[in-house]
Amino acid sequence: PMVFFVTPTKRRPEQKADLTRLGQTLAHIPNLFWILVEDAEGPSDMIRDLLDRLKMTQTSAHLAVSTPEKMRMNASDPNWKLPRGVEQRNAALEYLRTNHASWHRGAVYFGDDDNTYDWRLFDEIRKINRVGVWPVGIVGGLIVEAPIVASNGTVTGFTAKWKPERPFPIDMAAFAVNLSLIVENRDAGFSFDVPRGYQESHFLTSLKLSRNDLEPRADFCSKVYVWHTRTEKAQLSKKDLQRTLDPAQLSEPER
Ligand code: UGA
Ligand code: MN
Repeated sequence: PMVFFVTPTKRRPEQKADLTRLGQTLAHIPNLFWILVEDAEGPSDMIRDLLDRLKMTQTSAHLAVSTPEKMRMNASDPNWKLPRGVEQRNAALEYLRTNHASWHRGAVYFGDDDNTYDWRLFDEIRKINRVGVWPVGIVGGLIVEAPIVASNGTVTGFTAKWKPERPFPIDMAAFAVNLSLIVENRDAGFSFDVPRGYQESHFLTSLKLSRNDLEPRADFCSKVYVWHTRTEKAQLSKKDLQRTLDPAQLSEPER
């Protein structure tokens, strides 16, 4: 099966570094299609050139859609203030419905641009039938946040300490779904209108999935193949901060 790897990406000083690292991970994975959705008015040359250098032009889609003005955060806002990547992930879902609807052996995964991915994760993503789940490292105040698996191989709970009452108390990096579910549930997606931390639960519920549907992967959820690493915000002079809003200048020395 094809892995459709969906990445919303925000314009910021660290963007080129994060995408270079992620791209150099993904370029080695066979049968992977990268859907990169910029949080911007239009696609940037910086990312087009990166895909070209990675030789991924044919195995990627490069889209752009801006987060609506009212939902946009300021540089000084704490990053949890508003949900991130909503509009961009929805654009990727529409793209999949329009362009890959007949590709019924596909798995869709939402991979942030700043996480760390072990190559073994991609084998686990390919193994899912409807919805697969696995542990995520360094998230929610835990070294590992994981589904709890009974000896008969079913998911009976979660180790999450943060908002454990959520229908699915898991991070975006903890699951993948079959492409056919996205095609069949045309209204499924992400929303600005859900409480903090409920994006994953909202999406999985919109696919009409319940906890009983979860397929534990990564050796019955005993292995960590993805970490929710976060890139530290660079402390820059006002001038450089302003300058690096232009993606062409993300690593150009000033002349
Ligand atoms: C956590 C989850 O891992 C995210 O998948 C989830 O979207 C987010 O919480 C949430 O609740 O909204 P976190 O590390 O806090 O992630 O979020 P970021 O890494 O800052 O953002 C997630 C993705 O969205 C990144 O790929 C980022 O580049 C992108 N993003 C961020 C945008 O497209 N626009 C923004 O304004 C901010
Ligand atoms: Mn992140």
